[in-house]
Order: sequence, then C-alpha cells, then structure tokens
Amino acid sequence: MSEAAAQLSDRHFRSVAELIEQEVGIRLPAGKRFMLEGRLHKRARALDCTGLNEYVERLFDHAQFETELVHLIDCVTTNKTDFFREPTHFTFMRDVAVPSLLDARRRRSNGLKVWSAASSTGMEAYTAAIVLDDMIRSGGRFQFRILGTDISTGVLRLARAGIYTREMIAPVPPDLVRRYFLAAKDPSRDEVRVVPELRRLTHFMRMNLMDATYPVDCDVDIIFCRNVLIYFDKQNQRKVVDRLCHHLRPGGYLMVGHSESMVHAGVPHLRQVQPTIFQV
Ligand SMILES: C[S@@+](CC[C@H](N)C(=O)[O-])C[C@H]1O[C@@H](n2cnc3c(N)ncnc32)[C@H](O)[C@@H]1O
Repeated sequence: MSEAAAQLSDRHFRSVAELIEQEVGIRLPAGKRFMLEGRLHKRARALDCTGLNEYVERLFDHAQFETELVHLIDCVTTNKTDFFREPTHFTFMRDVAVPSLLDARRRRSNGLKVWSAASSTGMEAYTAAIVLDDMIRSGGRFQFRILGTDISTGVLRLARAGIYTREMIAPVPPDLVRRYFLAAKDPSRDEVRVVPELRRLTHFMRMNLMDATYPVDCDVDIIFCRNVLIYFDKQNQRKVVDRLCHHLRPGGYLMVGHSESMVHAGVPHLRQVQPTIFQV
C-alpha cells in the first residue's frame, strides 16, 4: 500500500471515529488517527482494498455492515492485559472481599460469582479463578463461577481456548503454574493451557458495556471492570458504573483500573473502600 493509500482523509477518519464512539463508547480523538490507520491496514488488505479510504467507503456500503463492524471493533480495541495485573485487587479479593461476602448474614448460598467485565484474552478472569481455587485448597468452604465478557470477538476466542505462551504467564508464581496450567504435548510449542477444572468454571460471552441492559445475574459478588472505562467519556463512565452496580449483590465489590479511581463520581450508593475498590 502506498503512503497515501495508508492514510485516512479527515472525512473518513471522522466517520470511523464517530461510528466507534457511538457503537462502543471508545473515543478516538485526532491524536489517535495514526494508531487507527495502523490498525486498519491489515483488515483493508484482507479485503483487497486499494487503500484505507476505500475500506471506509466499503464499510458503510457493505451489505453485511454488522459483520464488518465486528471486525472493525476487533481492530480498534486495545486488549492489553496480564495475569495478576494490578495484584493488590487479587490480594484484596482473597483477604477482605471473599471472607466478608461469605460472612454476610443475609447470604443463603456459598457460591461466589465473579465477573470480569472487559475480560480481553481472559487473563483477569483466570487469575481470579486461580486465586479462588487456591483459597478452596487452603480450606475455603465455597464454590465459585467466573464470567468474562468483552466486545471483541478475537480476544474472546483466545479466552475460551485458555492457551497462553510461557512468556504470558510469567507473572504467575511457579507453584500456581504447576497446578493450574498444562504444558503443550508438543514441546516445540512454548504454550500452556489453563487446566480443564478452571476452564469449566469460567465462561466467556460477547457483551457491549454501552448496551442499556446486561444479560448478567444481579447478585454478582465481585466485578472487575478495569482499564476500559478510561476509553469512555465521563457520561458513559457514570452510566456503565451505575449499570454494573445493579448487578452486584448488597455488599458486593467493584474493582476499577488504577487510572480510573474517579469513575464513581455521581454514582449513588457506591462506597470507596480503597482508591480503586468500591462496595455497594
Ligand atoms: C485494555 S483491555 C483491559 C483488560 C483487563 N480488564 C485488564 O485490565 O487487564 C480493555 C478491554 O475492553 C474491551 N472493551 C472496549 N470497549 C468495550 C465495550 N464497549 N464493551 C465491552 N468491552 C469493551 C476491549 O475489547 C479490551 O479487551
């Protein structure tokens, strides 16, 4: 693709940016233009477009606009994640949240529900599963289920497979690697897979945080919604946090990313327990 073909005109950039903000809430200010051009490149080539502007024209004319939109969303989302990312949340979950939730006087069951609400490739959800299973092995008397949701179909595929490279699982302590990951049968593949026992307890589905309602239980114990709110404007941040709160049981916790501690502003009934941890 020539240099000119690899660039978006002002008009084409604006139309994609508006579409993305409207569909998934992610803001693409002018400073993100270069990033967007880079990410659209591969998709435009896959569709044999002569350039990015042609890709945008075809996107809007596409007989299967909705299908192409899924690809576009996969291209523009930032999916960076890690096992044990922002580890204080998992320490808090183990030492404070789970004991307090299991102690709650009104509680009828000892089944805990955890939701990773922008799960990316599943590392956050599986980290929660590892920590909870480790608690059970140490005598914890409860069961758990984990739900991971994301807007990007590509990352959900990886999350469901639960296959990672050794480099990706570097933050997992070695004893937990031995217990919760299986090495690939073919040693030339530097990959491991989350054990079936944890995969069975961890489900993933596509869900857009911009939707007015979420098809999720309303008695979730802990919601991780980390490093995604930052892409939304203030109004959408408040709406999403408000909606998430409706899915928490009384006393349930919401964890947000370290740069998202202000997202609770204006959301009633949400108590800040730590800078990035809230309780309803
Ligand atoms: C940077 S990753 C964060 C992953 C994980 N929560 C963490 O902190 O490691 C952000 C994720 O949010 C997802 N995302 C962005 N907009 C979304 C939306 N409107 N609804 C659901 N997921 C969204 C992206 O696809 C991406 O996988």
